[in-house]
Amino acid sequence: MYIKNLKINGFRNLRDIEINFGENTNFITGENGQGKTNILEALWLLTGVKSFRRAKESAFFCNTENLPIEITALFENSQRTQEILLKNDGKKRETTLNGVAIESQSKLFGNLLCVVFSPSDIEIATGSPDLRRGFLDIAISQIKPSYVQGLIRYNHILKQRNACLKSDSIIDTEIWDNQLDAVGASIALYRKTYINALNKTAAEIYAALTGKKETFEAVYQSGVSRKFAELAGDTGSARAIFYYYLKKNSDRDRQYGFTSTGIHRDDLKFLINGKEANLYASQGQNRSAALALKLSQAQLLYEETNEKAVVLLDDVFSELDETRRNFLKESLPGYQKIITGTDKQSYADTIIKSGRIEI
Ligand SMILES: Nc1ncnc2c1ncn2[C@@H]1O[C@H](COP(=O)(O)OP(=O)(O)OP(=O)(O)O)[C@@H](O)[C@H]1O
Ligand SMILES: [Mg+2]
Repeated sequence: MYIKNLKINGFRNLRDIEINFGENTNFITGENGQGKTNILEALWLLTGVKSFRRAKESAFFCNTENLPIEITALFENSQRTQEILLKNDGKKRETTLNGVAIESQSKLFGNLLCVVFSPSDIEIATGSPDLRRGFLDIAISQIKPSYVQGLIRYNHILKQRNACLKSDSIIDTEIWDNQLDAVGASIALYRKTYINALNKTAAEIYAALTGKKETFEAVYQSGVSRKFAELAGDTGSARAIFYYYLKKNSDRDRQYGFTSTGIHRDDLKFLINGKEANLYASQGQNRSAALALKLSQAQLLYEETNEKAVVLLDDVFSELDETRRNFLKESLPGYQKIITGTDKQSYADTIIKSGRIEI
C-alpha cells in the first residue's frame, strides 16, 4: 500500500500542503517546530485512529485563524486507488471514502493502513498499561477490523456493570457478567494469539537489532487471572474462567465500585535479557524494544492481510545509534516510508517551513 498524494489545509499550522509521494522512501525535512509531525499526524487521522500524539480534536484547529480542516489522501492498495477525505469546520464533520460519505472517522478503520513510529513510542515499554493495550488493540484491529466492535461492546457492558456496582441497589451483576465474559473471552483470545505471534517476530527483530547480543520477550499479563493466558484454549473455556473470576471477585468489586477483573486490566510484560524492561532496561534498550514492536506490527499485518502498511517514522533517526539507524533503513524492504527529520536527506526532500512547503 502506498500514498500517492496528500493534501492538508487548516490542520494546526499547516497551509496548502500538497505532497506527491514516491513508492519507496520519502523525507520531510525542516527545522524544529515547522510542522513535520503535524503532517504525519494529519495523515494518521485518515487511518481512523485517534492522534498518535494523544491530542484532542480541539488541538487540531488552527489557533491563529478560523479555518476549516481539510485532509485528503490518494492511496493505492494491492487492488485499486482509493481516496479518503476528512473535513471539519468545527460544526460539521465530513468523512468520505472514494466519494461515499462515511458515518464517522472511526469507520475508516482498515482502509488506509499505516504503522507509525515516533520518539514517544518508548512509552510502550516504559509507560502505563493502557499504552500497551492501545498498541495491541490498534495492531489487532488493523488485521481484524471487527475486533474494534468487540472492544466498544465490552466497554459499554463494563460501564453498565460499574454503574450497577456503584449504585446502592443490590441488583445482581449477573446480567452483565453473562455478557462481559463472552465478549471479554473473545478479545482475550485475539490478544493471546497476537502476542504469541508478536513475541516471535519481535524477538527476532530485537536480536537482529542488537547483533544477537540481547534477547527480547513479550509476555501476556492477563487482567482476568495470572493463569488465564495459559488455561484459556478456546472461547468456551476462556469464558468460563472469566466468569468464575468475575463471581469470585464480586464482593470486592461492590466494595470498590468497579470491576477489578477483566481484559480492561490486561498488560504486556517485556523482558530484555530475561529481565523486566520497565524496571531494568536502559533508554536505548526500551527504544529498541519499541522499534522491534512497531516493525513487528508491520510484518504481522503483512502476513495476515498481504498489505504492506505505509510506515511513518517521525524524527526517529536522531535518537538511534548508527547500527540501529542502518537497521531501520534496511528493514521492511518494499514498504513506503515517510520519514521526518531536521537534517536534509536528498534533493527530493519536502521541506517544511512555518507550516508551508518551501519551494
Ligand atoms: N492548533 C494549532 N494551530 C496553529 N499552530 C499549531 C497548532 N498546533 C501546533 N501548532 C504549531 O505547529 C508547530 C509544531 O509543529 P510540529 O510538531 O509538526 O513541528 P515539527 O516540525 O515536527 O518540529 P520538531 O522538529 O521539533 O519535531 C508549532 O509551531 C506549533 O506552534
Ligand atoms: Mg516533530
